[in-house]
Parts: sequence; structure tokens; C-alpha cells
Amino acid sequence: MRLPRLSLFRLERAAPAALAPVPVTLTPRVRVQRLAAEGRTAHRGGVADLVAPASVRCSADHLLLDGQFARVLALVGLPPEVADGWLAPIISEHLGADVSLIVQPQDAGATAHSLRVQHLRLQAVMGADEDDAVPADPDITAADEQVEHLRHALARRKENLFSVGLYVLLRARSRAELDALTRRAQDAFARVNGRLVIAHFQQEQGLHSCLPEGRDQIAKRHQLETTSLVTLYPFPPATLRMPGGVPLGYDRATHTPVEIDLFDDRTFRNANLLLCAPSGGGKSFTIKLLGLRSLLLDDATDLLIIDRKHEYAHLCEAVGGQFIRLAATSAHRINPFDLPPLGPQQTPAEVLPEHIQQLIGLLEILLAEPDGHLSSLERATLDRALRQVYATHGITTDPETHQRPAPTLPALQQVLDDSSALDENQTARNLAERLRPYTSGSLAGGLLNGATTITLDSRMVVFGLADLPRALWPLAMHLLASYVWTEVRRRPDRQRLLVVDEAWLLLQHAEGGEFLEHMARLARYAGLGLVTITQDVKEFLRSARGQAIADNAAATLLLGQSDATITAVAEAFRLSPGERDDLLAIGAESDGQHGVDQAAEPDNRRGEGLLLAAGRRIKLKVVATPDEHELATTAFREVTGRRAMPGRA
Ligand SMILES: Nc1ncnc2c1ncn2[C@@H]1O[C@H](COP(=O)(O)OP(=O)(O)OP(=O)(O)O)[C@@H](O)[C@H]1O
Ligand SMILES: [Mg+2]
Repeated sequence: MRLPRLSLFRLERAAPAALAPVPVTLTPRVRVQRLAAEGRTAHRGGVADLVAPASVRCSADHLLLDGQFARVLALVGLPPEVADGWLAPIISEHLGADVSLIVQPQDAGATAHSLRVQHLRLQAVMGADEDDAVPADPDITAADEQVEHLRHALARRKENLFSVGLYVLLRARSRAELDALTRRAQDAFARVNGRLVIAHFQQEQGLHSCLPEGRDQIAKRHQLETTSLVTLYPFPPATLRMPGGVPLGYDRATHTPVEIDLFDDRTFRNANLLLCAPSGGGKSFTIKLLGLRSLLLDDATDLLIIDRKHEYAHLCEAVGGQFIRLAATSAHRINPFDLPPLGPQQTPAEVLPEHIQQLIGLLEILLAEPDGHLSSLERATLDRALRQVYATHGITTDPETHQRPAPTLPALQQVLDDSSALDENQTARNLAERLRPYTSGSLAGGLLNGATTITLDSRMVVFGLADLPRALWPLAMHLLASYVWTEVRRRPDRQRLLVVDEAWLLLQHAEGGEFLEHMARLARYAGLGLVTITQDVKEFLRSARGQAIADNAAATLLLGQSDATITAVAEAFRLSPGERDDLLAIGAESDGQHGVDQAAEPDNRRGEGLLLAAGRRIKLKVVATPDEHELATTAFREVTGRRAMPGRA
């Protein structure tokens, strides 16, 4: 007979001692059949009769249920130190086990009394040792410390005490299979320093303890305070498959697909994702897959990417996206004078004056000394000049005029030149001179100098920063922020993933850090998911802005790590020793596999990692199809075989 291999976990809180549980007796199925044949409904016997095995044979160390071999094991040794969800390895073992956890709250008064007695006894032993000049027994000292800690916690109502029993019911087709399964279960517990033993001569009681009766007939109890008890909960569902989610790969523990919908606000507090791994760990590759699949699977998500290395150009081209090269001179132009759409709380008459204030902010970046500000006289001069520029183009606060062609930077230059010539206005002359490099000097071929030449309607827009000189960083950040917020205003119904690759480099610039933190904090309110990718976790988390970004990420993906990164990662994301070893092994085993063909070498470990999301810790493996691999790879040989360096044509 083929046995069900499903992992079934029952978490039962036992009824308080005062309420005696209703006894349920197992009646062999033959009896139910007889009752049925006699025309009496099986319900008279209760549900238990329907689900009960036809026969039960009890031996010292196993049971025969309807010819099926079964065995009950009890947890007798608790690990001294545990991580949250430390029972998860049992799920990943695929034991096909029923796990029964029986929790009974303890009476606080009685507990306090017994702890006091224990404390006095331990003190007496320690005192006697001291009198006899015997060195203190570390076990006794440790026990006393624990008892004291618990007494204080109970007195302050920080903890409650519970009596907990944990039993495992295994099923197999043969005795040999049952023995093998038993060893695997015991090994799984031993790996987390727990001890699982066969409940000798108590198999029948064990079976009852594993039925949904809330009765613990074995009574192999452990006293646990609340903090320790919660580490047994929850048995997290092994998989993360969110309806409408984007497939990322599969769970290495359960071999089930992992699908994630970052924008599902019932599961995630925001749609921000943080991705950490050393160079070559597969970060960009993973995000390219996430982005591509988001574009293909639904019509609701757009992609904005800040690309430090111009490595998203190939993908961008393949999906018909817009690649914008931000540099001192660039064929792409974004005219800052274009008026934005009406904001949600704005009246039409407010659009122009508010945009003029925005422009003054941008001009401050262009015209003030580095880290300096414009004087109030300079701001007033610019305000007047900007209003005049719009007026000469027939644009006023009347929304009807907003469709007219917008002025450009040279028009502002003209107005400032004219007013410095006519009124001998020294401030205007000064500003005009400082603006000149952007309109007729060495930076005149830049992004701002002319009418907009790009369409920003594509579902994927990549901003390439590889050629951006240091001096233009503040400008680029201002442009990006205003682009994002204009887009959010223009189409508030859409959701967007804003991917910032190599974010640690952005953080090295004050403006870059400010931009990122601002986005991370506000993304949630704008249907935006900020995907932050970083190589250098230590540096990233050392900065207050990096820490704020990490704190504001509802999901984190850690790919294989190196010796240099693992300590910072383990500390920041509270990795268990097992998780730490896993990430280190992945990092070590992926090295030297740059660009390996995943399909040809399914065992290679690139793309493996740990996904911390929705309260789960999933051992993820990111898998690409050959076509996706071709679009996403940056492996040198694969890229050179494909085309010339992107984004520079
Ligand atoms: N899941 C995967 N399956 C197959 N190959 C992969 C996978 N992830 C990464 N690779 C391979 O490894 C290469 C390096 O990955 P990627 O460019 O994503 O590294 P990275 O972490 O972004 O590095 P850097 O920090 O230097 O940018 C990819 O170009 C691809 O060839
Ligand atoms: Mg990368």
C-alpha cells in the first residue's frame, strides 16, 4: 500500500487542566461497517470511528495500523541553544511525519513556589561546597542562574511558564523502512542538538498523544518559558508561493517553486528588497530575471533601473525599453522646463509656481558652489527670470497654456543675459556666467540643454551612470528623483520596481545616499518597490543611510557569501550557524563558475542563497531558462560572444 508522504504538523494547545478532554476511543473500521450494514449511521460512532484504522497492534517499539508500520518518538533532550523555527529541518527531511506539539500553561503561583524551592536547594548545595572548600560546580551555578532569571521574569510578567510535550509519529511500509526513517528523524534532531527517542512500551499512549485530542498520554514534558516556546512556532509553511507572484526559482529544502509578489501588502509591509552578495555572486542576474518576469507576467509593473555599469542595456533593448545615458555630454535630453502633470492635492493654478520652485532647486545644484546655497537675492533673481521665460513662451498659471512647447535652458540664459545688460544687474550677470558652461560651454552637450528627446513611456527605463563625472552626481540624483515622482504622479495606478544596482557606490555620494534613503522611506506610499543591490554589506550597513534602507526592506535575499563578508552578514541578518555555513559553502562552490551554463551543469551553486521574506527563511535557488540566461549574463565570454559593450554606442 502506498503511504501518504505529506508532512502534517498539528499544533495543539492543550485544554487547561480543569477542563477534562473528551475521551475518544478508536473503534475498528469493521465495526463501523457492521453498524452501517445494520442501517445505523456511522456518525453515531463519531468521526473518530470513520478515520480509525481497522486494527491496531501494539509492540514495544512500534505499532501496526491496518498493516502499516508506525512508531512514536518523543523529544527528551532539548538543545541548549536554538534559533527561531529550529524544528524546520524536520520539514525539509521529508519524513512524512506527524508532529504533535502539546502545550499546557502552568499555574504561575505554583511555578513561582517550586522555583523558589529549587533556588533554595541550589543555594544550599553551593553553600555546602563553599564550606567544604570544594570548587563550585558549573552545572549547579548555571542552573541557579537560570532559575533566578526565570523567577525574575515571572515576577515581572515578562514570561509565562508552559509544560510542553513533542512527539513524532512515523509511518512506513516495512519494519526496515521504519527503522531507517527513525534514524533519519533522530539524526535530524541531533543536528540541532535535540534528542528524539523511541517511546518504548508507550506506543499506544504515543499514538493517542499524536491524535488531535490534545491529550498527552506519554507525559514526557519539558518546562519552557514563553521565549523558548516561541522558537518551536511557527512551523513555517515550507514554501513561498504567492498568488500572482513572480517565480524566482525553487526552495532547495522542499524542492517547491518560490513565487513572490513584493507588492502584496497583506504579506509585506513594503515592496522593498535588499540583495547582498560579493562580486559575481549573481545579484544583477537575479534582478534581471525578476524584472524580466515581472514585465512578462503582468501588465501592472514597470521597471526603473539605475545602472552603474551599463549592464542592463542588453535586456533593455530586448524588451524595447529606454536606455538613458547620464553623462557630461549625452545624446539624451530631459528638459527640466517640461511641466509635470497635476499632482493629487494640487490645483491647476499651483502647477507652474511649484514647478518654478523645483527648477530653482535644480539650478541651485548647477550654480551654487559645491555644498553651498544660492543667496536669497540670487533665488529672487532666478524666480523673476524663470517666470519671464515661461511668459515669453506663452505659458502662465492658466492650465490651458500648459500644453504649449516648454522653454529650454538657453531661453533662461538669454533672459539672464538680457537683464544683466539692460539693468546692469550684477546678480543676474553672475548667474548668467555660472550657467554658461551648461548652455554654450563644455557641458552644453549635456542632458539638460534642449527639448526632451526621450520617451519615458516604456515599461523599462534604465538610467546608465557609468560615464557620469563626480561633479554631475548631485544633478543626476535630482533628475532621477524628479523623474520618479513625476512618473508616480503621472500614472498613480501603476506599481514600479526601482532597481538600484551597486547601491553602495551611490551611498558614497551624499546626494546618492539622500536619494536612496528618501526613496526607501517613501516608496510604500507611491506604489514603488526599491530594490537595493549591494556587494559590500559591511560598508553599506555602517552608514546610517544604508542601515535605514536595510530596515525599510521587507524582503532580503542573501546569495553565496565569502569569508570577507559572512561575519557582517551573519550579524546583520541573525543567521543561524547552519545558514552561515550554507551561504559560505555556496560562495566557495560558486567561485570559478562564472558564466557556467546552468542547464548544462544543474549542480553548480550560482544563484543559490537565503531569502528572508514573509517571516520565512527560504533556501532559494534562482533558475533561468537558456533564453533568460542569454539576456541576463554578464560573463565576459558570453557577453563578448554576443555583442560590443552596451550603452556606449
Ligand atoms: N542563477 C544563476 N544561474 C546561472 N548563472 C548565473 C546565476 N547567477 C549568476 N550567474 C552567472 O554569474 C555571472 C555573474 O553574476 P552577476 O553579474 O549577477 O554578479 P553580481 O553579483 O551582480 O556581481 P557584481 O557585484 O560584480 O556586479 C552572471 O553573468 C551569470 O553568468
Ligand atoms: Mg552586478
